[in-house]
Amino acid sequence: MMGIKIIATGSYLPSKVVTNDDLSKIVDTSDEWIVKRTGIRTRHYLGEGETHQTMAEAAAKQALERANIDRSKIAACIVTTLGGDYITPTCACMLQAALELEENTACFDMNSACAGFPYGLKLAQGLVTKERPYALVVSCEALSRLTDFTDRSTCVLFGDGAGAVVVEGSEDTPDICAILGSRSNQPVLYIDGSTEEGPSYIHMEGQAVFKFAVDIIPRCIQWILDQAGKTVEDLDWLVMHQANERIIDHAVKKMQMPPEKAFKNIAKYGNMSSACIPIALNDLYEAGQLRSGMRVLCVGFGGGLTWGGCLIEIGGIS
Ligand code: COA
Repeated sequence: MMGIKIIATGSYLPSKVVTNDDLSKIVDTSDEWIVKRTGIRTRHYLGEGETHQTMAEAAAKQALERANIDRSKIAACIVTTLGGDYITPTCACMLQAALELEENTACFDMNSACAGFPYGLKLAQGLVTKERPYALVVSCEALSRLTDFTDRSTCVLFGDGAGAVVVEGSEDTPDICAILGSRSNQPVLYIDGSTEEGPSYIHMEGQAVFKFAVDIIPRCIQWILDQAGKTVEDLDWLVMHQANERIIDHAVKKMQMPPEKAFKNIAKYGNMSSACIPIALNDLYEAGQLRSGMRVLCVGFGGGLTWGGCLIEIGGIS
């Protein structure tokens, strides 16, 4: 059984920065309400010339340059996303061309909504081999395309962005102890498929999703720790999906963790679905706070209602 480590990170935040005051000009809201209820101050949206694909490529290229590996040894390119520029070819197939990956690389997109990143890591762990020990996991979301800008209860929450990691598998690395699940088919959070009736928007009953999140997250963290034979003291970082600062604070309190171990960047970027966790990892890296040997517990939750997490080590970063 091979485990995986994260050996490099990358991210891309699109150019258009939107403040709470900007949104208060189009819906009945205020900076004070948004900050108090969510912790969000700004978010990024796709700007001129930027697409889902350009974000994914930029994040992936940065991670690959930092990893400095033989690209023919990449076994898989996995993109987690609610949806890219095309239904087919997938974002992962387009990355294969842009990054000049070998033809015999497994390339696919997967949708586990905001829980996508831990799902992607678990799949990556299953796809790496002794001969080709590397995989690329890219999480890329363009939520501004799915946002109903007449609905103040959702439009203030979301942003666009992409995060990427390169993982390396080895028999000496522990299993990431991923725990993945779904409280299935919940109508409290959904996006319609394409229909003739018009664009597809995020629909959400915020309070119901909040209750789901505060119930599942501490349980998921504890299950992962139990499976790994670790405690919260063994963690260097808890990196959670950034949906609401109050949800993160609740989990920290419930787990009786030092609050400084739970990384937060929600104020700058808002909720970018599956891209939140790898972008947070890259923010940590760029702040010099991610080093080899560190243990990071990642937890995501979202539409489906999906949830999942894993415990992953950092390697190759001095
Ligand atoms: N600005 C001002 N007022 C707003 C508002 C906004 N942007 N959005 C909603 N309100 C109003 C509501 O209309 C409501 O008014 P009322 O009391 O007159 O009916 C009031 O604020 C409270 O609304 P409520 O939905 O109870 O607020 P809340 O404290 O639950 O916060 C969320 C709303 C969405 C921030 C919160 O429920 C949340 O974060 N939920 C989880 C979302 C999540 O995790 N999503 C992730 C999925 S990946």
